[in-house]
Amino acid sequence: MKAIQTLGLTKTFRQRVACDHINLSVNQGEIFGLLGPNGAGKSTLVKMLVGLVNPSAGSARVLGYSFREMAPRKRMGYLPELFRYQPWLTADEVLAFHAQLLKTPLPQGEREALLDRVGLRGRGYERVKAFSKGMQQRLGLAVALVGKPDLIFLDEPTSALDPIGRHEVSELLQELRQDGVTIFLNSHLLSDVEKLCDSVALIDGGQVLYQGSLQDAIYGGVRRYRVQVEGLTAEGAEAMQAGPHAAVVQWGAKLRAEIRVSLMREDLPQVVQQLVDLGVKVYEVEPDHSSLEDWFLSRIGKDAR
Ligand SMILES: Nc1ncnc2c1ncn2[C@@H]1O[C@H](COP(=O)(O)OP(=O)(O)OP(=O)(O)O)[C@@H](O)[C@H]1O
Ligand SMILES: [Mg+2]
Repeated sequence: MKAIQTLGLTKTFRQRVACDHINLSVNQGEIFGLLGPNGAGKSTLVKMLVGLVNPSAGSARVLGYSFREMAPRKRMGYLPELFRYQPWLTADEVLAFHAQLLKTPLPQGEREALLDRVGLRGRGYERVKAFSKGMQQRLGLAVALVGKPDLIFLDEPTSALDPIGRHEVSELLQELRQDGVTIFLNSHLLSDVEKLCDSVALIDGGQVLYQGSLQDAIYGGVRRYRVQVEGLTAEGAEAMQAGPHAAVVQWGAKLRAEIRVSLMREDLPQVVQQLVDLGVKVYEVEPDHSSLEDWFLSRIGKDAR
């Protein structure tokens, strides 16, 4: 059974088609990333799936139920992109309120544990109005986790967070995946999506342009890495280029240079070994994310825009 399966899901606001016959499927237990430019229809799709926007046409199944049924909603969590919690309530009261709405018990210890999990330890008795935007977004994440949902929709969950917060959320999402939770993530942060998501879809103008594995989409199995090295000579670079695994591009200072290699991930250790055998010092190897952005821009027709 798929966690989510949509069939021709469509939403039209007056003349504007926000989602246009969307067919998507999300496997259970995966982190699914929905990508697309501003106004692509990402939030509208999520709102239809959580029951906040009434579709103009089409249908969907969520956790094995028709998405119009109430039954699966108890097992779903949702962090909206524009979150706003009652400013007069404390964080603890917000969680208690959402537990009441769900008719699920959430004792104080569990409320504290939830706040702890999203980096709000010890802040439960402060009012929302005194929270920064990032703290409110963290609270929103905790709200999405009330009732231990099996499926969580997160609409740009890190838009207000500092780099530490983004890192913490990445770790939290990976923990949730380990627990078997399915996560539907809307995000503009391509590097986060690349790091976290098992599969992705790209939409634009309400239409699905691509669905599948990000690695397959972008790299076709081949990845690019930036490698910081010292002592790579022209002959060494040539030898690398002629080698079985790597195409090497060299630029920058002669002594310390950054090279780019394109290769299958499993060949990376051999290429590093090859550099070491050439007497080169390797300081850093990191994935080259520019290709992800290139892919995104080419698929959404940047030039046409
Ligand atoms: N309530 C509404 N009334 C009228 N039009 C709407 C409404 N909600 C969304 N739209 C329109 O639907 C389209 C898709 O909007 P949506 O919010 O789903 O985009 P998005 O992909 O989430 O964008 P962003 O990345 O900016 O969050 C846009 O053209 C938007 O103007
Ligand atoms: Mg949106």
